[in-house]
Amino acid sequence: MKSQNNKISDCSIINLDKVHTESGNITVLENHTNIPFDIKRVYYLYDIPSGEARGGHAHYELEQYIIAASGSFDVILNDGFNKKKFSLNRPNVALHIIPGMWRELENFSSGSIAMVFASNEYDENDYIRNYQEFLNFKI
Ligand code: TYD
Repeated sequence: MKSQNNKISDCSIINLDKVHTESGNITVLENHTNIPFDIKRVYYLYDIPSGEARGGHAHYELEQYIIAASGSFDVILNDGFNKKKFSLNRPNVALHIIPGMWRELENFSSGSIAMVFASNEYDENDYIRNYQEFLNFKI
């Protein structure tokens, strides 16, 4: 599907399995088992100053899982027609973001870590950083 036509309704919250032991939990991501793409890159946002927002862009091709590895934050997705807020606050819950979504990350709790699993290496050419350009792309 061309990312131009992608809709928020195709982004979803994924409840990941938790291996519970008396000494703590483990959650596993395995390519094509519980994540529908090959993970080519992992990055994480941390030490985010209070009140700061991140994101403010969309991707043409990149697909991502975002997980609150620690603490909590909100992800606001916008497909050019509709907006939806997802609050992430558990390390075993992922937000699956398909390409063609404008995203804002905000309301980070102190010490929070936003872990991102991405379907491709970093490529600035895959970003749409201008909101009007994004809207033009989606209509
Ligand atoms: P950006 O993706 O705009 O951050 P966010 O969406 O979290 O606000 O990236 C911020 C800066 O980091 C930008 O200069 C590009 C750089 N960067 C990399 O070099 N490699 C990466 O994998 C990522 C995600 C960002």
